[in-house]
Amino acid sequence: MITEFNYQRYLSAKKTVDDRALNRAVWERMILALTGKDLRHPLEVLEIGAGIGTMAERFLGAAPGGEIFYRAIDVSAENIREARERLTVWGEGNGYTVEPSGADLLLRRSGIEARVRLECLDLFELLDWEGAPARYDLLLANAFLDLIDLPAYLPAIAGLLREGGHYLFTINFDGETIFQPPFDDELEAAILACYHRTMDERTREGAPSGDSRTGRALFRHLPAAGLEILAAGSSDWVVFPGKDRYPADEAYFLHFIIHTVATALKDHPEIDPDQLRRWAGARHEQVEQRKLIYIAHQLDFFGKKCDFIRPKL
Ligand SMILES: C[S@@+](CC[C@H](N)C(=O)[O-])C[C@H]1O[C@@H](n2cnc3c(N)ncnc32)[C@H](O)[C@@H]1O
Repeated sequence: MITEFNYQRYLSAKKTVDDRALNRAVWERMILALTGKDLRHPLEVLEIGAGIGTMAERFLGAAPGGEIFYRAIDVSAENIREARERLTVWGEGNGYTVEPSGADLLLRRSGIEARVRLECLDLFELLDWEGAPARYDLLLANAFLDLIDLPAYLPAIAGLLREGGHYLFTINFDGETIFQPPFDDELEAAILACYHRTMDERTREGAPSGDSRTGRALFRHLPAAGLEILAAGSSDWVVFPGKDRYPADEAYFLHFIIHTVATALKDHPEIDPDQLRRWAGARHEQVEQRKLIYIAHQLDFFGKKCDFIRPKL
């Protein structure tokens, strides 16, 4: 039975789940765009809400070559510390030489030279400070946009991209959570409906922040922010046990998800605390028994900044 929940371990366990989930066609579309002849060097990349840097690892593992400046920001100092340690180990294990250069890390391997800046910084401060200096060639956000008020902030985020710059926004939650095998359908439906509502009702400085249907909403918000959609597709998390165990650290990932739902609803007026404990206990137990299957519906988007803003739909 797991009693300690650690966010950095959760993000690490999430990496293999994301690797399977990321929409291949959307990802390939980004890689294709990065091989274009008109690209600037160094390619300037900004990742927002970068966590422990798993997307930086993925990106540098697939980058087609050339000079890259990769700036990854996250509001958590612990995440950034972990990202720096991980990226050093990851780079050395993946054919890169890695050396510190001031606060940055320099990663070099044949055909690629990447300067990575891992920065503890709140996105909203970045938007305040920098206004919209339209600087970046590529903007990345993985499992992040469903946490913020998109109609309010996506135009400013888009403003960080230079004209014609690209974005890849992945793992955007889209309102469906499924646990199998069935367990007290009525109770679980109530728990999940309330859990999704907590995402819709989340606030930041008194304003709404987050949307449990961010995936589908992006079809409206992206064009409204001047971001053309060139590719979109589903990136559902699908976690299931193998014959002997869950892959990698995915049992921990599942325990963390169940714990997150239970914590979010701990004092919820519509959910009886004993019933919630019964549900969470049973689902944790199913992970231990390698019986739990978990699916979350999500969507990925790739596209580019256009030179006109469409009117809101
Ligand atoms: C669900 S996690 C995803 C992390 C990472 N992108 C990944 O997929 O593993 C969301 C991340 O956003 C960060 N975050 C939340 N609000 C932020 C903000 N205002 N500015 C920067 N980072 C933020 C959190 O610290 C967390 O690491």
